[in-house]
Amino acid sequence: MNDMAPRISGETYFFRDHGQFDLLRLRLLPELIERRRDAKTLRLWSAGCASGEEAYSIAMLVDMLLPRRDGWDILVLGSDIDQSALAKARRGRYRQWSFRMVPPALQQRYFQRQGDEWALDERIRRMVTFRAGDLIGEPFPGAELRDMDLILCRNVFIYFGAAAVVTVADKLAAALSEGGYLMTGHTELIGHRLRNMQSRLFVEGVVHQRVTPCVPIVAMVPMVPLSPEIPAPARNAPPPAVAIRVPRTPPPTRPSADDLLATAREFADCGEYDTAERACREALAVDPLAPGPHFLLAQLAQLRGDFARAGELLDKTLYLDPRSVTAHLELAALCERAENLPRAQTLRRAALDIVRTMPADAVIEPYETTAAEMAQWLAQ
Ligand SMILES: C[S@@+](CC[C@H](N)C(=O)[O-])C[C@H]1O[C@@H](n2cnc3c(N)ncnc32)[C@H](O)[C@@H]1O
Repeated sequence: MNDMAPRISGETYFFRDHGQFDLLRLRLLPELIERRRDAKTLRLWSAGCASGEEAYSIAMLVDMLLPRRDGWDILVLGSDIDQSALAKARRGRYRQWSFRMVPPALQQRYFQRQGDEWALDERIRRMVTFRAGDLIGEPFPGAELRDMDLILCRNVFIYFGAAAVVTVADKLAAALSEGGYLMTGHTELIGHRLRNMQSRLFVEGVVHQRVTPCVPIVAMVPMVPLSPEIPAPARNAPPPAVAIRVPRTPPPTRPSADDLLATAREFADCGEYDTAERACREALAVDPLAPGPHFLLAQLAQLRGDFARAGELLDKTLYLDPRSVTAHLELAALCERAENLPRAQTLRRAALDIVRTMPADAVIEPYETTAAEMAQWLAQ
């Protein structure tokens, strides 16, 4: 495809990809809000926003997470190359098809039915600024497109040729503030090494974070050696001239499955996916029934775009740990992606049932959210 002439298609809808929006609501946005609580600024950008659903979805999340935001300076920016899509975005009126993944309660809360359209709450509409821009041709970072805390650029790279993917990804990375996040479609930047970016693997997929170059902790402190090579004793070594007492060094202990899994996660966090996978397999060699390594292998399979394998591994995880909330939700997201909506719904309901049996203040890892909050979110 010609790098400079992307084929345009603005297909989109509110809260497209539940898994990624769960990640935004439960983890990334709360983290960013906390980080900016003193400065009271937030800069969020939906790049390639089409008719605005993605940018408004972010604005709704901000409204839920930060209902009292007096004194805050919050930018929610939507940009697109397509002027007619932007005109539609500015109107803030949508047909029912744009809500196909929206819980009815959320739709009722933020929209008002007007004939065969739904009009967005004026407060949310005014939170978002739209502008035209060509991600390939426009030079940035610049006066406006800079210091972003979060950039969503999902289902846009698919229209670019290989050279443009690299150019745009590097420009987006440079437009982030330190610690800011870039979220793309699930497989869009697989295999691309981004400058000064670190992949962070969450249950709902990978997110790229702007950092000073990533130094894997395991590279500095040998946490758990993988397959330690134990040197063979030297043959025919001459006996010591004088008998001395040498303190006996303990034989090397085999790392536990938990240690190996922790190592695998460290590698995955730094984008070293092959090594992470190897560490998972070593963990399974120690404990074949450990659910954790199966779960991480499922995430790694998703990164490779092997969704069928990811599904099998998640099924296995659930077999080994039927009360895993994260495995239920991750498998639900996979089913949604495959348009198996009935199974996705069943899995989400099962996750809700589990969460409801937990103490309200129990923290659900790795979301760092309480069971009560998670139940409220899943029940919407
Ligand atoms: C499929 S939509 C994605 C909408 C939304 N991000 C989502 O995931 O639901 C792709 C959008 O990318 C926009 N686009 C394509 N090439 C672009 C470019 N060079 N600069 C800015 N936007 C572009 C298209 O106009 C279209 O609205």
